[in-house]
Amino acid sequence: MSAYKIAHRSSLEHPQDFWAQAAAGIDWDTKWDRVLDATHAPFYRWFTGGRLNTCYNAIDRHVEGGRADQAAIIYDSPMTDSQRTISYRELRDETALFAGVLAANGIGKGDRVIIYMPMVPEAIVAIMACARIGAVHSVVFGGFAANELATRIDDAQPKAIVSASCGLEPTRIISYKPLLDQAIKLSAHKPESCIILQRPEENAELIAGRDIDWRDAVAAARPHDCVMVDATDPLYILYTSGTTGEPKGIVRDNGGHEVALHWSMRNIYGVDPGEVYWAASDIGWIVGHSYIVYAPLLHGNTTVLFEGKPVGTPDAGAFWRVAAEHRVACMFTAPTAFRAIKREDPEGLLAGEYDLSHLRSLFLAGERCDPDTLQWSAQKLKIPVIDHWWQTETGWAIASNCLGIEALPVKAGSVACAVPGWDVHVLDADGSDVSPGQVGAIACKLPLPPGTLPGLWQADDRYRKSYLEKFPGFYESGDAGYIDEDGYLYVMSRTDDIINVAGHRLSTGAIEEVLAAHADVAECAVMGAADSLKGQLPVGLLVLKAGVERNPEDVVADVIRMVRERIGPVAVFKKAVVVAGLPKTRSGKILRSTMRKIADSEEYRVPATIEDPLVLDEIREALRSIGYAG
Ligand code: COA
Ligand code: AMP
Repeated sequence: MSAYKIAHRSSLEHPQDFWAQAAAGIDWDTKWDRVLDATHAPFYRWFTGGRLNTCYNAIDRHVEGGRADQAAIIYDSPMTDSQRTISYRELRDETALFAGVLAANGIGKGDRVIIYMPMVPEAIVAIMACARIGAVHSVVFGGFAANELATRIDDAQPKAIVSASCGLEPTRIISYKPLLDQAIKLSAHKPESCIILQRPEENAELIAGRDIDWRDAVAAARPHDCVMVDATDPLYILYTSGTTGEPKGIVRDNGGHEVALHWSMRNIYGVDPGEVYWAASDIGWIVGHSYIVYAPLLHGNTTVLFEGKPVGTPDAGAFWRVAAEHRVACMFTAPTAFRAIKREDPEGLLAGEYDLSHLRSLFLAGERCDPDTLQWSAQKLKIPVIDHWWQTETGWAIASNCLGIEALPVKAGSVACAVPGWDVHVLDADGSDVSPGQVGAIACKLPLPPGTLPGLWQADDRYRKSYLEKFPGFYESGDAGYIDEDGYLYVMSRTDDIINVAGHRLSTGAIEEVLAAHADVAECAVMGAADSLKGQLPVGLLVLKAGVERNPEDVVADVIRMVRERIGPVAVFKKAVVVAGLPKTRSGKILRSTMRKIADSEEYRVPATIEDPLVLDEIREALRSIGYAG
């Protein structure tokens, strides 16, 4: 039997032994009583009784263990034309001081702290400082609007918010502080303090009595030691799109998370401690949480924090420059980034200008990877390019080619096989396994391995309803796909209203809520239409209220502005059109998937239950007028 099959089988047959062995890679203050605690199934807990500290395992123990002078973070910012290397010792000292700042502001174990920051080293310091004192952080991505931040403030109820004066995009400065002030105005819950990092590019006005200058506070702070927490205590909440405008607060624990992420670095990514690892993502997303921040540091690697874009900062050679200059051994990004590079440098000539001899593998995730992009990347880089599948909920990969266990043959279009710890099934509507090659709902048998979501923040019922109810005994992933005869998984599409724009997860339901709030809109539908760069883009169809006499183009301009203001530029909502009616079944269900197929010029069957088939012709014409439907 192959090494992969042996590891996978042993992880499913003897999960407790498997993960207890992996847990030896982490330093424990108190050893666990139980590896897997099923007392409250289907709510499972890992390593109950164990006590430890995530910041200690990610930073301090490396300083004590001989890595004090090794780079922990390489910050590379073409946006500011600067670079900074931070050793593990420096990171420990900065983190301990910032933990002191938090403690001095009354923040302790279990208190929530929202982190709304751009890609600067201080963001990692803030994250680690929370972990150090047992506070629960919730990072909010900078591309979200004030309204989205407000929703998260109300759900997480943070005692403090850590932010910066601004973020930097290639063509503009994003003033974070006005967004933060607006969000606090909108939210019902008010944080006691806001700690603001002033960046040289823009100085934010501070509100006396509430806002604190990061540097002044650090200058006055005393270092704070690591506070031991239960393995099952929450480490962070990360909000992600659900099917409505209400985001889901995914919770991560301390113990299982440390064990799983530490294990993944060697076994999935095939890197050794001391090597340089680069995830070109943003700390606001799960990829950033797990593979810019936690996993590389837990494993004693050097992590690259890149404040730039794959193209335009300054050119499509930026990724090669960073990989070469910092001797990156393994890199990770979303396929969109490579599509952007390929579009600007189709022959990949810029890659030839750099010494990429240290780069051993490239991992892709966040959206479906089209075989063309995978093959192009593999040809240009001449290294294994690995598509792997995971979600905010799972925190690490469900299916991958595990290079540290055994490099399996790559099949373009597939995310390879279930990672050890994961029992992946493809089910039909009744919950029975389908045959190889047949498409169905992808579900994972419970219990999920360590590091995955123990639940949603203060929403047990929503957790149960969203993930556990449809297929009892399984976690419903929300993705559809199939497994081939060799056990390779193909993730094809979502089964719900979530779309994926440039590797960013968005809810069409949330966008529809914004459109429906327009005074002239009677009905609306949003779907994800195919896009050659970003994978998908949201497209809106609007039915106006009877008697509305405004120019339809003005209503379209209004809703585009509203989505940008309420959800944020990250939604990339730029296309909408007014139609006379939406196609519906006789029971009133809007036929979104039929409209999506029309937009993408795919074959479709007119559903037998459709109320008025002629509406489809009008939809086709309307979509054509905005560049879709052939
Ligand atoms: N703060 C504020 N605004 C942000 C932002 C941030 N952190 N990140 C993106 N935005 C804005 C962009 O400026 C853009 O605004 P615009 O409409 O005014 O131009 C908008 O949000 C859309 O951003 P994006 O979809 O990223 O498009 P882009 O055209 O700026 O860049 C790519 C295109 C392909 C270069 C970019 O999407 C990319 O690097 N993708 C990689 C995917 C990735 O990292 N995914 C994370 C999960 S692994
Ligand atoms: P997020 O929670 O933002 O990471 O988004 C997770 C979703 O992105 C998954 O449920 C999939 O729909 C999609 N996704 C992530 N990785 C892949 C992949 N490798 N192939 C196909 N879809 C993916």
